[in-house]
Amino acid sequence: MIQGIIIYYFGDAMVLLETKNLSKSFDGLKALDNVNINVEKSKLTLIMGPNGSGKSTLINAVSGFLKVDSGKVLFEDKDITNKEPNEIYDYGIVRTFQNPEPLKSMTVLENILISERHIGEGVINALFHSKWIKKEEEMVEKAFKILEFLKLDHRWDHTSKSLSGGQMKLLEIGRALMTNPKLIIMDEPIAGVAPGLAHDIFSHVIELKNKGLSFLIVEHRLDIVLKYVDNLYVMFNGSVIAHGEGSREIERVLNDPKVIEVYIGD
Ligand SMILES: Nc1ncnc2c1ncn2[C@@H]1O[C@H](COP(=O)(O)OP(=O)(O)OP(=O)(O)O)[C@@H](O)[C@H]1O
Ligand SMILES: [Mg+2]
Repeated sequence: MIQGIIIYYFGDAMVLLETKNLSKSFDGLKALDNVNINVEKSKLTLIMGPNGSGKSTLINAVSGFLKVDSGKVLFEDKDITNKEPNEIYDYGIVRTFQNPEPLKSMTVLENILISERHIGEGVINALFHSKWIKKEEEMVEKAFKILEFLKLDHRWDHTSKSLSGGQMKLLEIGRALMTNPKLIIMDEPIAGVAPGLAHDIFSHVIELKNKGLSFLIVEHRLDIVLKYVDNLYVMFNGSVIAHGEGSREIERVLNDPKVIEVYIGD
């Protein structure tokens, strides 16, 4: 009995983000229909599903870009349901978008720096100019470390519009890292990216995961992404229709006739 309680406690502690019966309708269309997912610490959780199944709606809801009708979003056991995106960001959740939109005329370095939004902020910081400079130096150092990690440092003074599609996705990850997140949510991080660079993006993701970061990812390119996935959810018509954790269960989910059917019907 006692052992059971201990196991339950540790099991629970691994869950970083949880949705409970999350629901959202658009004019009667159930884009999310009682969705329950768990995102565990230091794991890569993938949401797959045909077009229009509710994947983007789910991550928009979790990250505060969309208000839900009912259900809950818990992050580290705290209720963050329908909070504003900036509040959710303060909890340590950051997201990248399906179509990254860096400020194109700014350099790669500037794009990384502007995502650290506390820089020079507020009257008090402006009064203490030397403190502000120190902070700025630290931020530039941090930005360079991130660029080095992503192998974008040689492009630091190029405008971001000169980057390839894949490099822009890496820049998005860099911008996310600048905020010291606990959870990075990514909508289609390798859409339109050549296979070599797509694997490169995921090798960075795995390295970050091994350092303790957690990822919630939506992606259609299953041929590339599946081998990196720890936890898989399949959505269709706003519902989770299958779930598997670990390679054996993921294999089972992919061979589940229900899952095959929704893809064939797509
Ligand atoms: N803002 C909105 N207003 C009205 N309907 C919406 C809105 N956002 C999404 N929908 C609808 O909700 C459903 C789920 O859409 P969603 O974008 O979440 O799908 P998805 O799984 O991300 O698809 P894709 O793989 O094509 O990106 C779709 O039927 C879509 O048309
Ligand atoms: Mg989508």
